[in-house]
Amino acid sequence: MNSRRFLITGGSQGIGAALVKQARAAGHQVVFTGRNDTHIQTTARETGAYGIRADVSADADNQRMVDECGAKMGGVDVLINNAAFGYTAEIGTIDMARMRGLFATNVFGAVDLTNRIVPQMQARGDGDIVNIASTSGMKGAKGATVYAGSKWAMRGITQCWQADLRPYGIRVVCICPSEVQTNWMGKTGRNNPNKLYADDIAATIMAGLDMPRRVLWTELAVFANNPWKED
Ligand SMILES: NC(=O)c1ccc[n+]([C@@H]2O[C@H](COP(=O)([O-])OP(=O)(O)OC[C@H]3O[C@@H](n4cnc5c(N)ncnc54)[C@H](OP(=O)(O)O)[C@@H]3O)[C@@H](O)[C@H]2O)c1
Repeated sequence: MNSRRFLITGGSQGIGAALVKQARAAGHQVVFTGRNDTHIQTTARETGAYGIRADVSADADNQRMVDECGAKMGGVDVLINNAAFGYTAEIGTIDMARMRGLFATNVFGAVDLTNRIVPQMQARGDGDIVNIASTSGMKGAKGATVYAGSKWAMRGITQCWQADLRPYGIRVVCICPSEVQTNWMGKTGRNNPNKLYADDIAATIMAGLDMPRRVLWTELAVFANNPWKED
């Protein structure tokens, strides 16, 4: 793949940070976002990528991201909608303010940012958009209304964007990881070395981007092959 210009939301830690590292190692320009200054500075220092403190749920921050990508790289070729968080509550106990806040990040933030970036991709007739959903968005589960609902939404939205953007040569893919050993909801490690690592998801994304441009992976679920294995 020729050198391309990446914008990765939530690149300060976890899957996003692993992707920042792999994209930089492959010679790409990378701007990434997060909210925690320490994490942003660490990832920026380790990779040479440019980190921005920006909240994807804030419209003004999203416009600032687009403007900074224009100033630093001249635009965006690859947008990774990765920033998200979880919230577990069974129906009957859901805090609607928390649900609205989660959708503001996991769904509306991704739509708002993409809405601001797509016109430049359409004008060039080129671009890649990767939405990070989850296997939680493929099967309902106890207590999962809010988080799983947001990930089901991103899977459906991905299909709509494919219909909108394939005629422009823009690829949109949805990646659905199973459990990954990140700091997700404070569960670093999860005490099981046979589960997925952030690097596994980053490598999957890079592999999809590396496919010839005539090839579109519409959606990909990624599981650990044998998480029950005991070491
Ligand atoms: N880990 C899993 O088991 C798993 C499984 C399936 C899917 N996923 C999905 O994979 C993606 C990454 O998850 P992860 O495990 O890498 O999580 P993580 O380690 O908690 O990292 C989340 C990243 O998103 C950023 N973020 C959160 N809210 C944000 C906001 N409003 N604006 C900007 N950045 C924000 C965080 O930045 P700050 O910390 O600086 O705020 C952090 O960089 C998410 O979409 C998640 O739903 C994860």
